[in-house]
Amino acid sequence: MADPAAAEASANPFRPGAGHMPPYLAGRRHESDEFKKLLRQDVVLHNLVLTGLRGVGKTVLLDTFKPLALGAGWLWVGADLSEAMTLTEQRVAVRLITDLAAVTSSLTIARVPGFGFRHVDEKLDFDTMLGFFNKTNGLISDKLKALLEFVWLCLQEHGVRGVIFAYDEAQNMSDHVRKEEYPLSLLLEVFQSIQKKNVPFMLVLTGLPTLYPKLVETRTFAERMFRVLFLDRLGAKDSADAVLKPVQRAKSPVRFSKETVRAIVAASAGYPYFLQFFGREVCDAHLQKIHRGRRPKVRLGEIARKLDSDFYAGRWAKATDRQRELLTVIARLKNADREFTVQEIVAASRRGPKRPFSPSHVSQMLQALAEAGLVYKNRHGRYSFAVPLFGQFILRQDGNA
Ligand SMILES: Nc1ncnc2c1ncn2[C@@H]1O[C@H](COP(=O)(O)OP(=O)(O)OP(=O)(O)O)[C@@H](O)[C@H]1O
Ligand SMILES: [Mg+2]
Repeated sequence: MADPAAAEASANPFRPGAGHMPPYLAGRRHESDEFKKLLRQDVVLHNLVLTGLRGVGKTVLLDTFKPLALGAGWLWVGADLSEAMTLTEQRVAVRLITDLAAVTSSLTIARVPGFGFRHVDEKLDFDTMLGFFNKTNGLISDKLKALLEFVWLCLQEHGVRGVIFAYDEAQNMSDHVRKEEYPLSLLLEVFQSIQKKNVPFMLVLTGLPTLYPKLVETRTFAERMFRVLFLDRLGAKDSADAVLKPVQRAKSPVRFSKETVRAIVAASAGYPYFLQFFGREVCDAHLQKIHRGRRPKVRLGEIARKLDSDFYAGRWAKATDRQRELLTVIARLKNADREFTVQEIVAASRRGPKRPFSPSHVSQMLQALAEAGLVYKNRHGRYSFAVPLFGQFILRQDGNA
């Protein structure tokens, strides 16, 4: 075989991994339709928040939005946001300019009324935009607004419909009151202001469920500014398609029986990452048996243990002993897979077996766990795990301890 890696890939099409496009993107039609509606806005009244638990498919769905936007005449800019990248207002401004430059730097600045003489062949590149930004008077937000308005005047000349600013992992952005840096406020204010002036630049922010409450907490007007799409686990039919279609379409000798598909769907509870993970492992097991000429026998229990070490163990290892005790108390709540409150955790901890937690201690620890991306607080002050089926994993650890 010329290329063993390529042969392996076509034999086993599944793609468990952060941001890896699945061989078949199941479901998500509603979300795509909603996005298409947003693309039809002449005046941007709504931006988009795409949110959901870890591994539910936010990044890959965002990737599929890009060609939709380009097809409708929009430009698409964006990046994965890290905390470091967005620590200060200046950094956010430079981030936006850098991202814009990636798609505008080959465009010439046509004659833009009100902005004085420009060289005929001056390009809308990073240096030009940064120069414009630096020369503008006022606060960073004033400079940025002026620059974005100017960029839009230029882009109009090139027949552009608008610009999508797509930022993944946007929950990493925060204001830093103690440092007097308000990068998240800046982003929200600048976009709200330019959108009011009919500049069709739209924000598409993707992140964990902490994201939207954080936006609203930062600026209450964010509530009206964003349409929120909460990506959930896939339904039974879509989950089955996510498992079945890839092997049918790939040049794979593997065929899954109905029972196998049903077992994978049940084990993964419709969570996309888990569907890919179980799909890949079961497919591998089939391939090995085919090579040995035997009937495949699937051991989902063994695969689940592998999932524990591949998906959960790293996150669990980062928690302190006391945090693990708290997480174990939560996992034992009957509503652990849905929402839980500080009071419920406190009451359960009093029943032992470890030292009980006080309400203020629980609140504090939940905040730290939220920052670590393990839990999130919704707008009603209740908490949930940010990692799918985390409670069940924790109970398995507890049982093995
Ligand atoms: N609709 C889908 N159908 C089938 N598989 C999917 C679907 N969506 C995502 N996946 C698979 O699930 C896995 C996780 O996807 P992705 O990285 O986009 O999730 P995420 O929500 O961005 O996770 P994180 O919160 O960790 O960034 C990938 O392996 C991807 O191929
Ligand atoms: Mg992602």
